[in-house]
Amino acid sequence: MSERETAFVTGAAKGIGKAIVERLAGEGYRVVAVDRLEAVHDVARALAGAGHAVEAQVLDIRDRAAIGATLDRLAPLDVLVNNAAVTSTFPFDELTEDHFREMFEINTLGTFAVAQEGARRMRNGGRIVNIASRSFAGAPQMAHYAASKTAVVGLTRAMAIDLSPRDIRVNAVAPGVVDTDMLHYMTPERQKVMLSLQLLGRIGKPEDIARAVSFLASRENHYMTGHVLVVDGGRSLGQGQLPPEEDPHA
Ligand SMILES: NC(=O)c1ccc[n+]([C@@H]2O[C@H](COP(=O)([O-])OP(=O)(O)OC[C@H]3O[C@@H](n4cnc5c(N)ncnc54)[C@H](O)[C@@H]3O)[C@@H](O)[C@H]2O)c1
Repeated sequence: MSERETAFVTGAAKGIGKAIVERLAGEGYRVVAVDRLEAVHDVARALAGAGHAVEAQVLDIRDRAAIGATLDRLAPLDVLVNNAAVTSTFPFDELTEDHFREMFEINTLGTFAVAQEGARRMRNGGRIVNIASRSFAGAPQMAHYAASKTAVVGLTRAMAIDLSPRDIRVNAVAPGVVDTDMLHYMTPERQKVMLSLQLLGRIGKPEDIARAVSFLASRENHYMTGHVLVVDGGRSLGQGQLPPEEDPHA
């Protein structure tokens, strides 16, 4: 990168967010990593110690005033990655409005607040990547989460239209099942079923998602906007792996 660009990444203390910070830092961005967990400082310290331009701040994406104050300090922004989110599972009949509210307050409204405050301080030609989820296609016992992430898909597409006059490209990555703490809500039995549904025979790694984010966040990404890049190891094809005795190539 000729001139160092500034990237802002939420939910960066662990999991996919941490992998995104590592990837963008390795590519030469100045990265500002935020999370509501103090552990985000450890992520920044380790990378700064290795010579990368990474700083951290504890921030809750529901706190619009704090988001604005932090972004004021960083402007102009080049890249924004909206990654922070929460999940849980409940049988549909047990879901309450409070469960729904929590998902929408963080996953949808929090994403909107960061996107809007970020866009206001972004250079023309900037890039926004929202982390959605393959659950927009449906997911068992996660109606509240799937609805909140489907809203992120709609937000992404609408923002792509509204920010196009400034040449700000807005895209989303929709991960399938990825090996992070977020997976721990699944019982070992459910994890086994999930694994059997992965066409490529493995659960995704945070780095698989970070690679897709880096592609969409790149300055070179001139002509993609409003796109939802599904990164799910082929699961959307609706096929699991064949048992070895039925696989002609095994
Ligand atoms: N792991 C998966 O299988 C999977 C699948 C599809 C989509 N995703 C999405 O990927 C993204 C990252 O998830 P992950 O798997 O790394 O989960 P994770 O739980 O490991 O990390 C999420 C991070 O977001 C932070 N966070 C949550 N609420 C916050 C708030 N209000 N303010 C600031 N930070 C907050 C958490 O502290 C945590 O560090 C999320 O948007 C998630 O919905 C994950």
